[in-house]
Amino acid sequence: MTINTKRLLLRDLCEEDAGSVYTLFSNKDTMRYLDLPHPSIEHSQAYVAELLTRYLETPRRCYEMAVILTETNTLIGVVNLDIEHPYLKDARACIDYYFLPEYWGMGYATEAAKGLIQFGFETLEVNKIATGTLKCNVGSETVMKKCGMTQEAEFKQHAQFNGEWVNRIEYAILKCEYFSG
Ligand SMILES: CC(C)(COP(=O)(O)OP(=O)(O)OC[C@H]1O[C@@H](n2cnc3c(N)ncnc32)[C@H](O)[C@@H]1OP(=O)(O)O)[C@@H](O)C(=O)NCCC(=O)NCCS
Repeated sequence: MTINTKRLLLRDLCEEDAGSVYTLFSNKDTMRYLDLPHPSIEHSQAYVAELLTRYLETPRRCYEMAVILTETNTLIGVVNLDIEHPYLKDARACIDYYFLPEYWGMGYATEAAKGLIQFGFETLEVNKIATGTLKCNVGSETVMKKCGMTQEAEFKQHAQFNGEWVNRIEYAILKCEYFSG
């Protein structure tokens, strides 16, 4: 399973990626707003092994993929498109994106997320793609807006961050909005 964008290749993860997955998901800046950093390489190996079994589900619902910078063949991030109720026509999906800090601010997350959204609407034919983040995660919210998503909800005092309550925001884009935009 692969998706090509201008500068990136999105592809299924494989066992050999476990080291890169550990580097990404144990990075304290990448995991700053997220719950569970990977504590060990063994954890990342088990994580990838579980993904490999999830890829085989029929119908497939998990499209968590490595983001490879084509020019250098380097794994710079991981993105996920997860289909809710994939056996239904017009299903819903959620996306997430995680990148190594040295690659932030270069448009890679937006490019990868747009590629996933295109795949979701044009190939999988889902009806809605959503995502959410803590409101203080400005980079993530900017990616959502740049992908044409609009805010649908804000949950007050959703979590504690740096000793303070912070809100969670939810964004989404509908199939009709994608095809009319
Ligand atoms: C959120 C994340 C994926 C954004 O990655 P990125 O590669 O910097 O995204 P892009 O380069 O596509 O940037 C999109 C826009 O956000 C802006 N941006 C990125 N980080 C920002 C920040 N902390 N504050 C303000 N703006 C920010 C960029 O400048 C860019 O705007 P521009 O195109 O107008 O210059 C990245 O910061 C990350 O991996 N964070 C940790 C994991 C995470 O929180 N994921 C989200 C879970 S939903």
